[in-house]
Amino acid sequence: NASGAKAGKTRNIVEKMEEQGKNCIIFYGSQTGTAEDYASRLAKEGKSRFGLETMVADLEEYDFENLDTIPDDKVVFFVLATYGEGEPTDNAVDFYEFITSEDVNFTEGNEPALGNLNYVAFGLGNNTYEHYNSMVRNVDKALQKLGAHRIGDAGEGDDGAGTMEEDFLAWKEPMWKALAERLNLEEREAVYEPVFSIVEREGLTKESPEVYLGEPNKMHLDGTAKGPFNAHNPYIAPITQSYELFSVKDRNCLHMDIDISGTNLNYQTGDHIAVWPTNPGAEVDRFLDILGLTEKRHAVVSVKALEPTAKVPFPTPTTYDAIVRYHMEICAPVSRQFLAQLAAFAPDAESKAEMTKLGAEKEYFHEKISVHHLNIARVLDIVGKGQKWNNIPFSAFIEGITKLQPRYYSISSSSLEHPKKISITAVVESTQLPGRDDPFRGVATNYLLALKQKQNGDPEPCPFGLSYEITGPRNKYDGIHVPVHVRHSNFKLPSDPSKPIICIGPGTGVAPMRGFIRERIQQAKNGENVGKTLLFFGCRKSTEDFMYKDEWEEAKQVLGDNFELITAFSREGPKKVYVQHRLKERAVEINQLLEQKAYFYVCGDAANMAREVNNVLGQIISEQRGIPEAKAEEIVKNMRSSNQYQEDVWS
Ligand code: FAD
Ligand code: 2AM
Repeated sequence: NASGAKAGKTRNIVEKMEEQGKNCIIFYGSQTGTAEDYASRLAKEGKSRFGLETMVADLEEYDFENLDTIPDDKVVFFVLATYGEGEPTDNAVDFYEFITSEDVNFTEGNEPALGNLNYVAFGLGNNTYEHYNSMVRNVDKALQKLGAHRIGDAGEGDDGAGTMEEDFLAWKEPMWKALAERLNLEEREAVYEPVFSIVEREGLTKESPEVYLGEPNKMHLDGTAKGPFNAHNPYIAPITQSYELFSVKDRNCLHMDIDISGTNLNYQTGDHIAVWPTNPGAEVDRFLDILGLTEKRHAVVSVKALEPTAKVPFPTPTTYDAIVRYHMEICAPVSRQFLAQLAAFAPDAESKAEMTKLGAEKEYFHEKISVHHLNIARVLDIVGKGQKWNNIPFSAFIEGITKLQPRYYSISSSSLEHPKKISITAVVESTQLPGRDDPFRGVATNYLLALKQKQNGDPEPCPFGLSYEITGPRNKYDGIHVPVHVRHSNFKLPSDPSKPIICIGPGTGVAPMRGFIRERIQQAKNGENVGKTLLFFGCRKSTEDFMYKDEWEEAKQVLGDNFELITAFSREGPKKVYVQHRLKERAVEINQLLEQKAYFYVCGDAANMAREVNNVLGQIISEQRGIPEAKAEEIVKNMRSSNQYQEDVWS
């Protein structure tokens, strides 16, 4: 395994625990950073409240054949996210295969194999997906089967219901009690101990060549960035074209073309591209200001982990400005637990009491913070009534705030037509919420909008008043480049182009469908026999947000009667019309096509649309084939497992 094979790094977890004097290891399987964050929080809490010698570990960096040799006075945590269709996260694939395999083999061969192992399990999932929390459920089942001893319940957090944080908080208290009992631990008054030291480097300035200003690694710093470009090493790609597919009051949708020529990056139609965003200048300023760091924002600092198993989540030396701008999710939702922790550093007694209350009272926190989508700096500003919070050690933020995550987009171009050009279709997140002067704005999509404006030299760049410092002295964050990598997906056209396809892609769900249809156009131009292609597209109004309207005309010209666009304009008539209603109207034909083994694709909103389409398909099959609904649902399930039914959905 490439990442674990770095020189001098052991993949032996037992050895590592002994070497570092640890008795509690917290493994994470994380895709977007949340599971990793929860792992860090558990590590911190275990240490400060119970004196456990904790360490956080990436599942992909260790082997598991000697899991049976971990003694029973130690404990192993598994914090596991479920990704997509019940899949393990990329870093948990090997572990998952190992632990769930029928003939899992350990070094010692005890009976039961894991009779000594104490473990704790928490899963992160989304109930809008069929395989809800299947990772933690399956791993827990496998560990039980192997005779391991679980402490507390196997927790499940639900992102779909928006209760992840509360589920986590509710799960961990009884778990800590059970763990304390099992390992004979005494609870003590938690005292904050910083994990990182921040040392100001007087001799360096932000112009010094060794100072990182957003570059993700040394090669980028030295200007010698070369592939392979991947989740650890983005390619700073030129944007060749960007424009708005529609722009109406408070709603914009962007199309962006990104050039990956001259790199090792490749994609296949249906893959995802990850965009590494930059935080908006206004929020960076707010954050630095409330911490009293505005004057020192460009001071050069080195950040060091105070204990050997902790990792600094960005390269240093760097500046406060660069850390906050490029490496921290400063706009994300805040956690109640984090507020409770910051209470100790409040500027006065009143703000301390308020932070404690917000930390302790779920409903109060919801009403004051969550509904307004306040980020951490806004909370501190409001609670402290404008006072600076300059007593908080900066380490607390490095520990308590997630590292800035790439956002994924379904590629909307065809690799057959443009092997080295990737298109993105993204709707800009901007929502006016009650109790706020300004709209809530998504980080990555507003960053893309700012890039589009900069690239096109729009007369009034950034009308949302967001200033993005996209010009670094050495890096290419200059407004016409965007850091990206590619993630391969299983959302794929049939290898035989003559097979019929049915595509359901309302809103931005049309993104990969555009890629598919452009691919079919290209296949037809290459003389291939292209089968029936149906596209169900939905938007609000034909005159408002009808994306790629002209391109469907081209599809019609090239594919002829084999292409059909079926539209559902939800806000044109007296009643809402959605893609699934249109699907139902075409029941006879849909059923016939499915009987001819048509591929069925759904992309877009996971919460409602994808589920409703799934149900409607079951009804169509039941009615058309005269079979009970339960039997039809079984058929839909089988279509999914044989890849005849494919989803690319997000919430
Ligand atoms: P973010 O800043 O990440 O915010 C997103 C949401 O998080 C907000 O709407 C809000 O609900 C919540 N949130 C954030 N901050 C707070 C806060 N302080 N308080 C409370 N709530 C908060 N999108 C597309 O437009 N096109 C695509 O083709 C596409 N494809 C995708 C494919 C995959 C596989 C996945 C997983 C997602 C895809 N998405 C796509 C969604 C995309 O990845 C982003 O999630 C989306 O663009 C929003 O990103 P953002 O950074 O602008 O918003
Ligand atoms: P609406 O916003 O008028 O309700 C793209 O966002 C399109 O998807 C819009 O026309 C939107 O309609 C529609 N949409 C909203 N909820 C949906 C659902 N549950 N199923 C299908 N389409 C939906």
